[in-house]
Amino acid sequence: MSQRYTITAALPYTNGPIHIGHLAGVYVPADIYARFKRLTGNDVAFMCGSDEHGVPITIKAKKEGVSPQDIVDKYHAIIKQSFVDFGITFDNYSRTTAQIHHDTASEFFKTLYEKHEFVEEITEQLYDEEANQFLADRFVTGTCPKCGHEEAYGDQCENCGTSLNATDLINPKSAITGNVPTLKETKHWFLPLNKHESFLREWILKGHKKDWKSNVLGQVKSWIDDGLRPRAVTRDLDWGIPVPVPGGEGKVLYVWFDAPIGYISATKEWAAREGKDWEPYWKDDNTKLVHFIGKDNIVFHCIIFPSMLKAEGSYILPDNVPANEFLNLEGNKLSTSKNWAVWLPDYLKDFPNQQDVLRYALTANAPETKDNDFTWKDFQARNNNELVAIFGNFINRVVVLTHKYYDGIIPEASNFSEVDEETLAAVKAYPDVIASSIERYRFREASQELMNLARLGNKYLADEEPWKLIKTDEARTKTIMFVALQIASALATLSEPFLPFTSEKLNRILSTSSNSWDEISTKTTLLPSGHQIGKGELLFSKIEDATIQEQLDKLEANKKANEAANKQIEPQKELITFEDFTKLDLRVGTIIAAEKMPKTKKLLVLKVDTGIDTRTIVSGIAESFTPEEVVGKQVTVLVNLAPRKLRGLESEGMILMTETPEGQLVFVNPDTTVNSGLKIS
Ligand code: 2FM
Ligand code: ZN
Repeated sequence: MSQRYTITAALPYTNGPIHIGHLAGVYVPADIYARFKRLTGNDVAFMCGSDEHGVPITIKAKKEGVSPQDIVDKYHAIIKQSFVDFGITFDNYSRTTAQIHHDTASEFFKTLYEKHEFVEEITEQLYDEEANQFLADRFVTGTCPKCGHEEAYGDQCENCGTSLNATDLINPKSAITGNVPTLKETKHWFLPLNKHESFLREWILKGHKKDWKSNVLGQVKSWIDDGLRPRAVTRDLDWGIPVPVPGGEGKVLYVWFDAPIGYISATKEWAAREGKDWEPYWKDDNTKLVHFIGKDNIVFHCIIFPSMLKAEGSYILPDNVPANEFLNLEGNKLSTSKNWAVWLPDYLKDFPNQQDVLRYALTANAPETKDNDFTWKDFQARNNNELVAIFGNFINRVVVLTHKYYDGIIPEASNFSEVDEETLAAVKAYPDVIASSIERYRFREASQELMNLARLGNKYLADEEPWKLIKTDEARTKTIMFVALQIASALATLSEPFLPFTSEKLNRILSTSSNSWDEISTKTTLLPSGHQIGKGELLFSKIEDATIQEQLDKLEANKKANEAANKQIEPQKELITFEDFTKLDLRVGTIIAAEKMPKTKKLLVLKVDTGIDTRTIVSGIAESFTPEEVVGKQVTVLVNLAPRKLRGLESEGMILMTETPEGQLVFVNPDTTVNSGLKIS
């Protein structure tokens, strides 16, 4: 029976591109679910968009010296393209700066205001006297009163997930100036979550939420048990949706008030474009609303947004909020600020047309019940040992043999053996097996079941050995190939939610289009005898060790560059006198010979013409230059440095260098060629 689904995926902040953590935690599982629901005949509205308000955008704009609008325009385009590139099939990808969203969020706020659902109060809020600004959300950091994390933000601690009011922070510090904030009075509108506590308890904890993930229920229960308090839903900021009620001048809606309403405005925008009515997707009790999010968003989707929807009164509440845990990268937390991430546009440059490999690796290792680690080695293994060796190998054998034996025409099957019957029955069971995992939001398990179907195909061919029988039993060979082709066809359909690009390719190879999910359970013949299949194409290709090493090197290089960029400029040393300076004898020298110091990585042994003499200087530059690169270079030499022994060799002087943030050494040298020995003063 067809069911209406409104499926949402967390709106990404538009202050940078998205990385594999976002894809694994939210967008790939949401897309698998939406594709699956469509394939099984449901009415699906899959909504997302850019979250373009909030302090992170303002901070990024300040840092880059541009306007917040410039920032969101830039990253909205980049993020939207990444979703298209990775086959994420949103029915609409909107943005919260769109007029329709401003109107929808303002209306929502006004309705709650008119229903007296807010508490209007003048309170003391954190203020930065130097920046002349109230400090909310990410403009302020401090110690989390709950877990002691020292970098908690003014609205949430990302370590323990607790939602905070800025004034809760211990030792708050302005993220703008680093100053300790003062307190200043200001008026805000508060959503009294305490008023909704019994509803929430009833709805989530006592309601029929047994199918919710235990990580989600656990967090929600602990917050409710801790006691809910009123939350300010307005801010003293200038970037956001203006507060649309008297006294709201100069204030905007809190980003977490407007962002989830973005799901509604995206639906409205889509419905208007498609000539549909948006309301059933949000107001019909028969609609299932499912929010895909990361674990740091649980409080907003399970407590704050449901309280808003309940207070408004005309909306349905989520049926499920399948939040994932976090994905780490090579053992460390993914971090935008530390550039410890694999950004989607970068991945696509390095692995063109291999979106499905990443989708698969992230699904097979998804952080569903605990934080998980993405490693490039695992990515390689998933590709080489599963996609290439199992899925790709099976399809390749089937297609090659069909062309070789029957010119690509599906042969007639004669009597099915017991093994054939068992195999065909096993294939028919897969749609339900995979569906059951997806229905329970166990996408890892579902992806492994899909791979098991390809395994079944491989085993069938290996056991039945059509390549041997072709010489002795043509009829049996035809039956075997017929059965194998049915498995290939089932794979083309059942892989679609997980590997959409592969599914499309496979349908092209088989010259067919996807069946409906249910047909695979009911029909024995998915590809009829006499059907002409298309040309073979490689579905997956092996990823070599060197390619993986390049990615590991890139991560390390990014990390180093980032550390270097963040390195503080060293403070000036103590003053010296002019006499001190004149003690330094600095000369222009010319490197006339160079060789690597044996058994060392860093040292070059240089012969330098100082004008005074030719001397040996041992220099730690071998990681930045080859000997050939430095011969002939003019350099600055401190010639009267007392000789020092390095690895048993006397070094008579020092060559002046600087180091770039990327760790590259650079000579300090005259900008034109001059005679060796000239004094530098
Ligand atoms: O955590 C985030 O990236 C938020 N921008 C998610 C918002 S989800 C929704 F409510 F819009
Ligand atoms: Zn905390």
